[in-house]
Amino acid sequence: MKAAVIHEFGNEDVLRFEEVADPNPQENHAIVKVLACGINRYDLFLRMGGIQKNTPLPHVMGADVVGEVVQIEGDNQKISIGDRVIVAPGFPINPAEWSHKPENFAPSYTVTGTSLWGGYAQYISVPTCFLLPDRTGLSAEECATIPLVLVTSVHAVKTLGETEPGHHVLIQAGASGSGSMCIQMAKALGAKVATTVGDDAKFDVAKRCGADLVINHRKEDFSQRIREWTGGTGVDLVIDNVGGGILEKNLASLRTGGILVNFGLVGGVKDELNFAALIFNQYQIRGSMMGSMDELREGLRMVESGRIKPVLDRTFPLANAANAHRHIQDRKVKGNVVLLPWE
Ligand SMILES: NC(=O)c1ccc[n+]([C@@H]2O[C@H](COP(=O)([O-])OP(=O)(O)OC[C@H]3O[C@@H](n4cnc5c(N)ncnc54)[C@H](OP(=O)(O)O)[C@@H]3O)[C@@H](O)[C@H]2O)c1
Repeated sequence: MKAAVIHEFGNEDVLRFEEVADPNPQENHAIVKVLACGINRYDLFLRMGGIQKNTPLPHVMGADVVGEVVQIEGDNQKISIGDRVIVAPGFPINPAEWSHKPENFAPSYTVTGTSLWGGYAQYISVPTCFLLPDRTGLSAEECATIPLVLVTSVHAVKTLGETEPGHHVLIQAGASGSGSMCIQMAKALGAKVATTVGDDAKFDVAKRCGADLVINHRKEDFSQRIREWTGGTGVDLVIDNVGGGILEKNLASLRTGGILVNFGLVGGVKDELNFAALIFNQYQIRGSMMGSMDELREGLRMVESGRIKPVLDRTFPLANAANAHRHIQDRKVKGNVVLLPWE
């Protein structure tokens, strides 16, 4: 089969489109013909060696896979050959932990395509218990924008963020893959949503996702705008996918007792915390990592009912995976980018 392979960690140019062996079917696994594979910022960190240095090379990454089952090994009641399926964007890779609940707290839980080969290929091998039937009615490329950011948004905005109707929520990087999905999730839960973008050209995508207020963080102090927007009170929840460099302003945007959920680090992995501000304002800071299979199913039901929509920026043939990574690296992305392995 064809795949976009890395033989070393490094910049976009380490992604090589080449012929590799088809995956070997193992017990309780299915072989899925990949119709489309979404790219996440995570893949860029993985490619650079920033996630784990001990990934055996050569490696094929890719977490957001939509495809068709072409082979099944072992007993399985739920999936049949020919089914359109969504691959779970993360799962415990140790078979002894396949039934661990919630899955994202299992010791061997990893994002799909991190330790085992992922979806930047024409075929992928996946444990059948981590395949879900695709009932979204979306095209494969639209659907491939969804799984990773969807499960993240359910876990971060609903479960950890405790969003309720009428809450005020600030979501950073509203035109990013994760931000555009978190805006939709917060709106679907009945919140009022403010978001930030670094370019006026990204206003539209944030608005289309339902944001009530869009702030260009390069032109305005977002925490001041948030204070004005909430009549001085601050928001109930900040969803932070940026990390280093904005902690103080994120906290200054919160109401007393408000929740900051962080799941991203494009701005860096470190920041300074003022414990006095934390204690006197009783802020709750929570780290979020992906989500469980139940949270993924819950999110998919919202997609099936049309409450959550894909935000497809553009597609690239798998052979151009390096250019697709460059597009994301350059902060040009508006939503999600998807690779097509058969073009
Ligand atoms: N833990 C989890 O479960 C989980 C799940 C999903 C994503 N993530 C993480 O969340 C982060 C965002 O992921 P994504 O896929 O949504 O990213 P993305 O689509 O590439 O968007 C990232 C956006 O962040 C904004 N940004 C703000 N400060 C930045 C900086 N210093 N450098 C680069 N970009 C900056 C940029 O938008 P503007 O130019 O508009 O500011 C950029 O386009 C990543 O760290 C990713 O690993 C974590």
